[in-house]
Amino acid sequence: MSTSEQGSTADQPMIRIFDTTLRDGEQSPGASLNTAEKLEIARQLELLKVDVIEAGFPITSSDDFEAVRQVAGLVRECTVAGLARCTEKDIVRAAEALKEAVSPRIHVFCATSAIHRQYKLKRAEKEIIKMSVEGVKLARSLVSDVEFSPEDASRTELPFLTEVVQAVIDAGATTVNIPDTVGYSTPDHFEEIIRHLFATVANIGQAVISVHCHNDLGLAVANSLAAVKAGARQVECTINGLGERAGNASLEEVVMALHTRADVYKCGTRINTRRIYPVSRLVSTLTGIKVQRNKAIVGENAFAHEAGIHQHGMLAHRETYEIMRPEDVGIPASKLVLGKHSGRHALQDRLSQLGHQLDDQRLDQVFEQFKQLADRKKEVFDEDLEAIVGQILDESRNARTWDLEALQTTGGTGVLPTATVKLRNRQNGEIAIDAATGDGPVDAAFTCILRLTKVDAVLREYDLRALTGGRDAQGEVQLELVASGRSFRGRGRSTDVIEASVIAFLNAINRVIRAADSPAKTATEGKV
Ligand code: KIV
Ligand code: ZN
Repeated sequence: MSTSEQGSTADQPMIRIFDTTLRDGEQSPGASLNTAEKLEIARQLELLKVDVIEAGFPITSSDDFEAVRQVAGLVRECTVAGLARCTEKDIVRAAEALKEAVSPRIHVFCATSAIHRQYKLKRAEKEIIKMSVEGVKLARSLVSDVEFSPEDASRTELPFLTEVVQAVIDAGATTVNIPDTVGYSTPDHFEEIIRHLFATVANIGQAVISVHCHNDLGLAVANSLAAVKAGARQVECTINGLGERAGNASLEEVVMALHTRADVYKCGTRINTRRIYPVSRLVSTLTGIKVQRNKAIVGENAFAHEAGIHQHGMLAHRETYEIMRPEDVGIPASKLVLGKHSGRHALQDRLSQLGHQLDDQRLDQVFEQFKQLADRKKEVFDEDLEAIVGQILDESRNARTWDLEALQTTGGTGVLPTATVKLRNRQNGEIAIDAATGDGPVDAAFTCILRLTKVDAVLREYDLRALTGGRDAQGEVQLELVASGRSFRGRGRSTDVIEASVIAFLNAINRVIRAADSPAKTATEGKV
């Protein structure tokens, strides 16, 4: 049997895959998604066959509530979870958002470590247990599937952790999740915690033990796998390892480790591994967060063999240097998409391999732009297509206030870089024109836009890259602005890199304006 065929078999214990891309993943700085984007990701997660989709934290904002409500109404084959603190208003709101779910789960959490008890919650151990038990009981009165997480479990004193876990299982928790909230644990340590719980919690057999690891020390996947060895049967993870700070355990790495090393872990998952690449691309396109080139499983280099000796070995026998096959995770055989004579069906097929299921109207828009690009460029690659789709989705879903009408810039050596920008306000038709000088034409254009839109924002990140090789390549700009303490991403593409920069900047500015019009998550409410 080939290494890559050593998947799970029917008699192995199954590990539940709990995907929290839409909740913890969305807490990645700059990764905010709107409801339509969350629905699209949820659809792909269902095709991927994750067991649980954590769709959001309903109490934090009306947008989060709406996203959980709509995901719950859409998804039929996965459990849909909503997060709540152990308070009545959080839990009731989560239950309300989950009303339409076929299989709803309320996920309640309460911090248990000494440092959180003392400084964050200012509560004694007894009060923490009381809050947790009451939270679980209330949630159980509303749904039959309740998960409890003792936040910062890995820094909690073990005897107290045992006491909390036992109490919440008695109160009716059906899953108990052990988070390494600050990514402090190591594989040996984390395995020991899980083993300790199995040895000391008398009623542990009545709940599924889950783990949720953050990646601050780069150990989230290793810690999750160590916990599986100790008996954990649910792993919480995110696509591309997105998440608060350094992220969460990456779903694709956890799943492919369990699958490829079934000889070690002796567990299976329900995951359709061939859907991994499409969902990874989709999440990257919609969040604007690129996957690092050498990222395991889904990075551009994950299956690239550069050294001559490796290429020779691969030609002689694939498994000399390959432990998984790219097709096992849904990576298409070639990146060359289509040429100028390709039809709508070929385009639709390719888009589906990249995780996009577009309605007819959007497909027409993409096709139109694809044809225009194919007239200018000999070859159109996946990256070009993703940029076209990303920009169309950005424009149609993120209600725009300002459109770019005209842009003129001058730059060069020995001249004063200048930009003139003309914008049109979609809501009232107002035309606004300004001119400015700057360090360069891009800087000058940004100054005009800030003055014209009266938005107070600072540019935190600016990234320009050629989407593909060749002199006819399109330039793509991805940037991040900070306004009122929140970050907003924008993306633009054009064969003219100054225009791409201005489109990206204006997209981010439109997001700032939209956020100011809708109630925002506060720092303490929206992040945990
Ligand atoms: O990291 C964490 O502790 C969490 C909990 C809410 C599970 O995200
Ligand atoms: Zn977390």
